[in-house]
Amino acid sequence: SCKISRVILLFNRTVILAAGYGTRLQRDIENDTSGRFRNLSGIAKPLLPVGYCALISHWVQALNASGSVNTIYVVTNALYHKAFEKWALDFPIVKVLSDGTRSNEDRLGAVTCLQLSVKHFKIEDHVIVIGGDTLFKEDFSLSDVKERFSDLQAHCEDSCLVLSYQCKDQETGMYGILEVDEHLRVLSMKEKPPPSETKSRRACPCFYLFCKRSLPLLDVFLDEKKEAPIEEKDAPGNFLAWLISRMPVYVHQISGRFDVGNLSSYVECDRYFRENLQDVQSYMM
Ligand SMILES: *[C@@H]1O[C@H](CO)[C@@H](O)[C@H](O)[C@H]1NC(C)=O
Ligand SMILES: *[C@@H]1O[C@H](CO)[C@@H](O)[C@H](O)[C@H]1NC(C)=O
Ligand SMILES: *[C@@H]1O[C@H](CO)[C@@H](O)[C@H](O)[C@H]1NC(C)=O
Ligand SMILES: *[C@@H]1O[C@H](CO)[C@@H](O)[C@H](O)[C@H]1NC(C)=O
Repeated sequence: SCKISRVILLFNRTVILAAGYGTRLQRDIENDTSGRFRNLSGIAKPLLPVGYCALISHWVQALNASGSVNTIYVVTNALYHKAFEKWALDFPIVKVLSDGTRSNEDRLGAVTCLQLSVKHFKIEDHVIVIGGDTLFKEDFSLSDVKERFSDLQAHCEDSCLVLSYQCKDQETGMYGILEVDEHLRVLSMKEKPPPSETKSRRACPCFYLFCKRSLPLLDVFLDEKKEAPIEEKDAPGNFLAWLISRMPVYVHQISGRFDVGNLSSYVECDRYFRENLQDVQSYMM
């Protein structure tokens, strides 16, 4: 019952989710006694310097250079809105939207932010959704994932594509973990399971290629979760876990990601980009 998509695939639009308050990292920065990180206080995580530019600028440069994205929507909050507007002056391809909230307690959650941008910008096509605090290792390639998505679409236009990388046993409790079949179709997603609860070690970072036909399901999901606590729609993976039983979702494997959740992981990421990144010009392209 699956139609084949014959259209030439262009991802005209990308949504970057950047409305988080980064409370853990900010707490680490406030608490740091060395003084080295004082000037990072109050900066939204996607705008933190990573290597030679802001974390989120790595994405904008790669997406812009890919040639197939003509608009990048960045959803932020009212607290960081001005800072994102200022940053976006360098990037005509970017449009910034505020979710209107001013504190972590009032956050709408990532799924609502995605829905907000889909409605506000009238997105009715395949869309790339990226977590604004996410960066990948150098094997990640936008053109590879787009090619894989095109292949999937050629078989079934309901197909969506997500990423996975192998995490350590003790890390399953930190991430969404995907279970897949032999064709790399996702069977289930477990949210932060203990290592004993699943044989899988496939952690799923926030980088999704959602097909056009999956976007109306955001409304269905959020309507079902209307009365649910924020924790059930906070993470973008909450929607993905629900989507799996409704549309075919496949996995593209990558080697790993940078996690800038706390100060030591931020420092490690920044150092990697300054000292170890092999090919700055083609990173993530
Ligand atoms: C803040 O720093 C102190 C001293 O370094 C440490 O004992 C404490 O656990 C830290 N608190 C948080 C919330 O990280
Ligand atoms: C923070 O200060 C250091 C020097 O102390 C500077 O190299 C860095 O660019 C500053 N970062 C920001 C985000 O202002
Ligand atoms: C975006 O891509 C265009 C076309 O390749 C290029 O001319 C422009 O410099 C790029 N802009 C940024 C900010 O990278
Ligand atoms: C910081 O984050 C990294 C990566 O997620 C994790 O491995 C590490 O345990 C965290 N450190 C602290 C002090 O929480």
